[in-house]
Amino acid sequence: MMADQDHGLPPATGSRGYDFIVVANRLPVDRVEGIDGELSWRRSPGGLVTAIAPVMQQSEGAWVGWHGATNENLTPFENDGIHLIPVPLVDDDLEEYYEGFSNSTLWPLYHDVIVPPEFHRTWWDSYKKVNKRFAEATAAIANTGATVWVQDYQLQLVPQMLRQARPDLRIGFFNHIPFPSPGIFSQLPWRRQILEGLAGADLVGFQRTADASNFLRSMRRYTNRSVKGTMAIPAPDSLGGSATSNICRAEAHPISIDTAQVATLSRDPEIIARSKQIRQELGNPETVLLGVDRLDYTKGLRHRLKAYGELLADGDLTVGEACLVQVASPSRENVERYAQLKDQVELMVGSLNGEHDTMGHTAVRYLHHSYPLREMIALYLAADIMLVTSLRDGMNLVAKEFVAAHTDGRGMLVLSEFTGAADQLTQAVLVNPHDIDGMKSGILRAVRMDPSEATKRMRRMRKHLQEHDVSKWSETFLTALALPLPVDTLV
Ligand code: G6P
Repeated sequence: MMADQDHGLPPATGSRGYDFIVVANRLPVDRVEGIDGELSWRRSPGGLVTAIAPVMQQSEGAWVGWHGATNENLTPFENDGIHLIPVPLVDDDLEEYYEGFSNSTLWPLYHDVIVPPEFHRTWWDSYKKVNKRFAEATAAIANTGATVWVQDYQLQLVPQMLRQARPDLRIGFFNHIPFPSPGIFSQLPWRRQILEGLAGADLVGFQRTADASNFLRSMRRYTNRSVKGTMAIPAPDSLGGSATSNICRAEAHPISIDTAQVATLSRDPEIIARSKQIRQELGNPETVLLGVDRLDYTKGLRHRLKAYGELLADGDLTVGEACLVQVASPSRENVERYAQLKDQVELMVGSLNGEHDTMGHTAVRYLHHSYPLREMIALYLAADIMLVTSLRDGMNLVAKEFVAAHTDGRGMLVLSEFTGAADQLTQAVLVNPHDIDGMKSGILRAVRMDPSEATKRMRRMRKHLQEHDVSKWSETFLTALALPLPVDTLV
């Protein structure tokens, strides 16, 4: 078949493989070193694997992904009932595919060019090469008619590569980050190839309806497909279509968290005691404000610190009565923009603290670490106000975790309009992080909100999260993926 030769993928195996395969840049495990120096694997925290693990166990599933270190070939192994198929990356792949095309081209482009994306042909070549490696590893282990679910922006070419090698597969794709408007997306020199790559999926899922419609608008503009409702329909052969082309649907399927697990942890006496200890260690301020983010320029950390600093300078908040705890977990540290941001944030924190700290109290308690979930829940419980001020964010699960953790009826969320979560957590105090004055009054509104009103709002948001948790997300996506196409779209 022509298409197979295009990508040089191995022919269909169709036997002795898996019926359900997740393909993601990272495997859902972290390597940990025991006290005796022995290495083992531990399931990574995070919603995706929690949501997918039951499906994996039911239907003999496997997870294809990178294990997080370079220049190492690992054989497939099992962890916690999940079959893991490692895809190796060498140093050049890390630099060009991961740090380069994924995180210095696509990431800034898809987050509304908050920093300028860089376009390098060598990075694009590496992206194609590594996507092909993931597609090959998947094609080789998929049973006939298996369902494959590809995750996120690092692997957008995999759906089409798989479709061409294995037309028997049911292929889904989920984009965890925003999909930009056609005006921004059009900057990408390889925009058509990326769209064709995604169109290989039967269903492409997005966080927001706006993302799905951005994708379909680009599809209409930059490929020869036509768009009908939520479907991108391939052109007939005479107009450059291909016999193996499929109809691709685009829909919003907002991801969520394991609401019940967070609620259970929030009632754990040890975690409650830890949350009280945290407040005490902060000097028992009246108002604990909290930010929890990967140290990423999309998160609006500088805008948040600016607004908070002005509230202190204006005397609307006072150190001792208020304290901001900012957890900024290390991320993509070899990418230049991330290293720059770290310097900028640390300079701002230093100058805020220098200006406002007293002997006994600090303005910003800055923590450049990541913490296990139990400690995070204790922090959420210790906080009164959560600040999520992203300039652009696919979803923001931290906002959802904070709401779900407050089974005690306390707390209020200040949430950027530019997060996917803002579509669902509509009872939060919604702010535009570019509008510093607006953000300052939003923060004060949350701080001064009547407790009964805050409890009511938090309860309504918690109810939403109980009804829309991460297992509902994966179930809804996979059900939609399994649906046959409406007959009238085929004629
Ligand atoms: C975002 C992306 C994920 C990514 C995660 C951590 O949530 O959507 O695909 O895995 O950030 O980033 P990293 O580059 O460390 O995998």
